[in-house]
Amino acid sequence: MRLLLATNHPAIDSIILKLESEAGIKELEKSLKHDGLPRWVRPILIVDEVKYRERLIEKAKVCRPDVTILYDKLPGTVELEVLFEEIRLEVKNEAGKDTRIIFITSLEQGSPLLRKAVELGIWDIIAGKDIHPIDIIKKIYRPGNYSDVARFKLAPEAESQIKRMPLVSEVKEKIVEKEVEKIVIREIKEVKRQRIITWWSASGGEGKTTMAASQAYQLAKKTGEKVALLDFKEANPSCHYWFNAMPKDTLEIIDAIEKRFLNQTVIENNMVTYSKIPNLKIFTGIDLYRINSWGPEYFDIVKNTLKYPYIIIDTNAGLFFSGTVSALQGSDMVSVVVEPTYKSIEETLRWLDFIKDKWGIPKEHFRIHFNKLSFKSLDEDTLRKAFNEYQIGGTYKYTDNVIEALNKGIPVEKGFENLLNDLLFIQEKKKNNILSFLKR
Ligand SMILES: Nc1ncnc2c1ncn2[C@@H]1O[C@H](COP(=O)(O)OP(=O)(O)O)[C@@H](O)[C@H]1O
Ligand SMILES: [Mg+2]
Repeated sequence: MRLLLATNHPAIDSIILKLESEAGIKELEKSLKHDGLPRWVRPILIVDEVKYRERLIEKAKVCRPDVTILYDKLPGTVELEVLFEEIRLEVKNEAGKDTRIIFITSLEQGSPLLRKAVELGIWDIIAGKDIHPIDIIKKIYRPGNYSDVARFKLAPEAESQIKRMPLVSEVKEKIVEKEVEKIVIREIKEVKRQRIITWWSASGGEGKTTMAASQAYQLAKKTGEKVALLDFKEANPSCHYWFNAMPKDTLEIIDAIEKRFLNQTVIENNMVTYSKIPNLKIFTGIDLYRINSWGPEYFDIVKNTLKYPYIIIDTNAGLFFSGTVSALQGSDMVSVVVEPTYKSIEETLRWLDFIKDKWGIPKEHFRIHFNKLSFKSLDEDTLRKAFNEYQIGGTYKYTDNVIEALNKGIPVEKGFENLLNDLLFIQEKKKNNILSFLKR
């Protein structure tokens, strides 16, 4: 285990002292045994030390550490945010894998820097005033995962209003664009845009699941990219009906989360692969009899572990389920389904005000979709006027074909083509941006 020290934290000195003597190593082994880490996984080799932030990247690129310990009081003028991004982009270990960063900090929950760290996959954060050498050693051997640090990301931002953080992919993309300017093509293959679209409505039965299934299906078919449809509706998930599929049990995912080895493969093994379009995978949700073993934070963990360009999430109506809260707070587009009735208009507007005020989700994130229009329902003009502050996603007629399709287990397509509008446009625009750098 190759270790790079970029820290002047006093706890590190005593680690070094311990590692230098037989007795010290024995003592560390003893405390690790106590914590369920009985054997040294691999001996620790301190490959270099950095005293100033300015030297970190150049040294790390040469010594290719497995782990870098970075302390936020390390002297220097480079912003830590910049260091995080540069390490992520430029520093790999000898096997060509990302160097893990153990970040020692006195920052508090809600700090924008910690949120950013979590977004960049820095999941080994040791925060607080009282840090012991053994905490650091344990982190070296037992990498943290998202659930260890989710609190840093999910806590409301200290002082200022809650702002939406950029998605992992947006951050990555920024880095990649910077890198492409330098014509380093190596990173291009890592360009992964990610859009997370949540389907929500004020009441049940308005058409969330119908639309989510249709959108996921059309996206997968049209783009050929990986699309994940996540059924976050608690108790009675129902996306699978649209694909004539048997729901999968979530036991293995629960087990992997508890034992901290959840990764994309584990989730994928427990998703349904749609037989007609293999790039479409469906997480079929939490059944009633698993609900007690499923922690509320598991929704976030699943969503954040999947690195798919498109994630479509179906939810419960209202705001009383953790899956719905996780989806609404963690997506970059909230598609809201409204029925052509005064009841639906009023309920929806009231909830939207609540979500905007309490959670700080900006109104630009919402797309309003009017479903089930018929010649006896409210007309499109009335509906559009009621939601004139919001962007409209589309209108869809009431038709028997939808019921028929549901019974056959085939997602609807005809009449629902608008569900792709915004998504494809943005995708193509971004692609061109990146390629235009390359052409230079
Ligand atoms: N445009 C439509 N025309 C006819 N029936 C529809 C339409 N949209 C949805 N439905 C039907 O309404 C019912 C509720 O839709 P669903 O998508 O399950 O709502 P939600 O997920 O919001 O509870 C389903 O039986 C579905 O087939
Ligand atoms: Mg539904």
